[in-house]
Amino acid sequence: MKPSIVVARPIFPQVLETLSKHFEVRSNQDDVPWTAQTWQAALAASDGALTTGSDPVKADLLAASPKLRICANMAVGYNNFDVPAMTAAKVVATNTPDVLTETTADFGFALMMATARRMAESEHFLRAGRWTEWRYDLFAGAEVHGATLGILGMGRIGQAIARRGALGFGMPVLYHNRSRLPAETEQQLKATWVSKEDLFRRADHVVLVLPYSPAVHHIVGSAELALMKPTATLVNIARGGIVDENALIEAIRERRIGAAGLDVFEGEPKVNPGLLQLEQVVLTPHIASATMATRLKMAQLAADNLISFFTQGRAITPLNEVPV
Ligand code: 8YV
Repeated sequence: MKPSIVVARPIFPQVLETLSKHFEVRSNQDDVPWTAQTWQAALAASDGALTTGSDPVKADLLAASPKLRICANMAVGYNNFDVPAMTAAKVVATNTPDVLTETTADFGFALMMATARRMAESEHFLRAGRWTEWRYDLFAGAEVHGATLGILGMGRIGQAIARRGALGFGMPVLYHNRSRLPAETEQQLKATWVSKEDLFRRADHVVLVLPYSPAVHHIVGSAELALMKPTATLVNIARGGIVDENALIEAIRERRIGAAGLDVFEGEPKVNPGLLQLEQVVLTPHIASATMATRLKMAQLAADNLISFFTQGRAITPLNEVPV
């Protein structure tokens, strides 16, 4: 008998077809996410799961899912998983590193540019029919080329953004990360390690690309925002919980920072109404990795992790080691 897997959210039909060659597949291909109860029941009845970043796999669900052996996340971030609890329950966790790095970096850079150059705000103005004349300061924004780029979290995506800034736009790059990059990589990226405080103080544009864990919850709050230049922009393509949104709203309202570009939100898909009222924020619905080519690679890698685990006994990009 084929192992059973559950696919939590709609994915590419061709990936589902591949999966159905190897597994009994139950999938939610509706545009409406399952309720927590349906998800719990589906997981409990499955040997494996293909999840997205919105599908929790935490201790309570694991306790109710004794059959479960692997969860393959179609995301590089995995804060929807409780990896230690998965390891304890002998459930393999996998994610999708590398395949989305460049696409996500493209978007991070685009969001930074859109924020600094006031693209959303000026577009809304034009669509509203409010453009009546040329003015020297009409939507004059912040310079990008040559400005100082600050990157918090210097993993694969952070480095890909640094490369764009340093090599393409002549930006001095400052970064803060738990561990420093090797000197050679710092040289290639023209990047300088600084303290978190210095990063916020000195950067013209701060991009957040660090993985979320409770340890970094609201790591960007009123104290950090207070360090920023009044013209600076803040861009978050990591996870909503990293930024204290109410502190950000206040800082922008009081013009203590210039603008923000946010692709991720604390209670997404709900968005803090205070953000919606601010013109100086560019808001996008968690789409940094969203090109069809990249999303296909992510879905395929998640599927390949499941197939490899059940046919060869090991996943391709595991996040934990589970004794057999
Ligand atoms: C995903 C992401 O689209 O990979 C990640 O960590 O945030 C995005 O690329 C999202 O998590 C859905 O799985």
